[in-house]
Amino acid sequence: MYEQVAHSLLNDILNRIKPEICQQDLRHFYTRLGANFYAIHSLLEKLYGDRADFNQQAQSLVETMAKKYIKRSAKLRQLDLAREKDYNWFLSQKWVGMALYCQGFADDLTGLRERLNYFQELGVNLVHVMPIMPCPEGSSDGGYAISDFHEIDPQVGTLQDLIGLADEMRERDILLVLDVVVNHTSNHHYWAQEARAGDSIYQDYYYTFETRTVPDMFEQSMPEIFPETAPGNFTWDEEMGRWVMTVFNDFQWDLNYSNPAVLIEMLNIILFWANQGADILRLDAVAFLWKKIGSTCQNEREAHLILQLLKDCCQVTAPGVLFIAEAIVAPVEVIKYFGEDAVIAKECEIAYNATFMALLWDAVATKNARLLNQGIKSLPVKLERATWLNYVRCHDDIGLGFDDRDILLCDYRPARHRKFLIDYFTGQFADSHARGLPFGQNEKTGDARISGSLASLAGLERALEIGAERGIDDAIKLILLLHGMIMSFGGIPLLYYGDALGTLNDDSYRSDPHKMGDTRWVHRPSINWETAARRNIPGSVEYKIFSALKRMIAVRKEITVFADFNNRELIEVENPHLFVFGRYNLNNQAGRVLIVANFNDRPQHLDVADLGTWAPQYGRFVDLYKGESPDVFKKSLVIPGFGFYWLSES
Ligand code: GLC
Ligand code: GLC
Repeated sequence: MYEQVAHSLLNDILNRIKPEICQQDLRHFYTRLGANFYAIHSLLEKLYGDRADFNQQAQSLVETMAKKYIKRSAKLRQLDLAREKDYNWFLSQKWVGMALYCQGFADDLTGLRERLNYFQELGVNLVHVMPIMPCPEGSSDGGYAISDFHEIDPQVGTLQDLIGLADEMRERDILLVLDVVVNHTSNHHYWAQEARAGDSIYQDYYYTFETRTVPDMFEQSMPEIFPETAPGNFTWDEEMGRWVMTVFNDFQWDLNYSNPAVLIEMLNIILFWANQGADILRLDAVAFLWKKIGSTCQNEREAHLILQLLKDCCQVTAPGVLFIAEAIVAPVEVIKYFGEDAVIAKECEIAYNATFMALLWDAVATKNARLLNQGIKSLPVKLERATWLNYVRCHDDIGLGFDDRDILLCDYRPARHRKFLIDYFTGQFADSHARGLPFGQNEKTGDARISGSLASLAGLERALEIGAERGIDDAIKLILLLHGMIMSFGGIPLLYYGDALGTLNDDSYRSDPHKMGDTRWVHRPSINWETAARRNIPGSVEYKIFSALKRMIAVRKEITVFADFNNRELIEVENPHLFVFGRYNLNNQAGRVLIVANFNDRPQHLDVADLGTWAPQYGRFVDLYKGESPDVFKKSLVIPGFGFYWLSES
């Protein structure tokens, strides 16, 4: 019945479609449109069905898809077909990622292209180049305040450079990830400029208000994202003479998705970057897409409908392209960004595993794995054909986003425990070796987050400064332990540029007036390639970290049970310092691997009897990472301080 409504609308749309579009060879496009149109229509109707211009909006949506399909190169269309056949391609353990700032890593796109060997040397074959579109000087939020979605920042290069880079990466079997900042634009964007000039069409692209009445209602339930630098969620724009919603910084204007024109513009932009050769698009701040008075304006149901719609439309035009959801939200919420049901509601194939990241840092601070075990036990199982991005550090702060109930189950008191973690990483706690900085401190709520590079948070900076050999060794072990977890957990490990070289905090942001208020800049380094060359000098810190990670990556790629098919079992053991889980083959017992990690600085033991069916059946354990058998003492495995094993039976 409802299909018929959709069919008849689709027929009308196709009849009205412009002749220049019709004349193209659209065979695959039509097949996919037919297969997805019912879903597209239902979603569009849920979101915008009560509008008088609904059919026109549907027409414009389909035309946007068709035009972008026509522009999609033959090479990319081939890739789409191949990926449709091999639709689980991204679940494989062969992918290992790195996120970077183009300018911090290599000055510009040409430089980045010249450095592709570096990724191959390490084994990285998925590179997330953080936003490279133009942003106003000084109010860029690190690239996330975009003033033109169709251009490349001239300081970084040209579109031609990007296409060249994408082509060469494809030849080398390296995936390219680009950002699409879907939630907001810079206040310098054309739409914002027109809105400022008084154009009501563009004012409707944002949430603007003449008086404080509605903003005040919103404020009652909306948290602050950047309380120190951008308190409140609305900004008075003098030129426009109106308030505008600015959830992040005051120069980042939130887009109004209750206006279908915004959705269609953004679809057009998504497909534009897909056509420039991006394999994966990272959709920024997706939790914030829908605003509702009386709510936190995060994770609203409509935000999911918008993402499902964008996904369905992308499936029609560029089905080989995947979405990453950047939703740094509670575990029960984040899981929803994969979609509710693999068949009828798909959203993003990949999502940041911020829960795992934060839990790993909890284990670092407490030197035990209690909350880590509890948090992972509570992490909902995700859909098939969906996977995590597992990371230790990224360009953002570390938020302590785990669940209070899990903290309570570990017999900690939530507020005190969180305060301990902040104190620990910002070096306020007596025994801590971490050199982090607070971020997003909110006097009103007492909340705070943490900035700092992996190496500085892990104690390397301090140890190097005081020349403590043991401290240096421990920090390196910790860095490797954390990577050992993201490489084996299930999902795509995403390294952060600089971390494979032990890059420390960079204080230079403090002398830049545009950056000094935002401590996240402390961990957004410029790679010093002379120092980086020390990765080839045995005995150097850079060598120790880099060569170990290189080995870890190579080994990961050989372990087929590390592919992500929801094939992980958490194993509860007596010793609270240990995090233990198994990765198995869904069809048989062959090739299974047991991961054992010790978050304490002292050696710990694991009673083999604790392992139940995971105990060796006939032979003995071999650690695949080191290639040797672990020590066993009185029927217990011995795990060195900050050590980990990837155990298989031999
Ligand atoms: C995302 C980005 C972050 C940025 C924010 C606002 O969370 O990762 O860096 O500040 O969005 O765009
Ligand atoms: C939001 C911000 C991001 C921050 C995160 C957690 O997603 O965009 O910068 O890291 O919240 O605090």
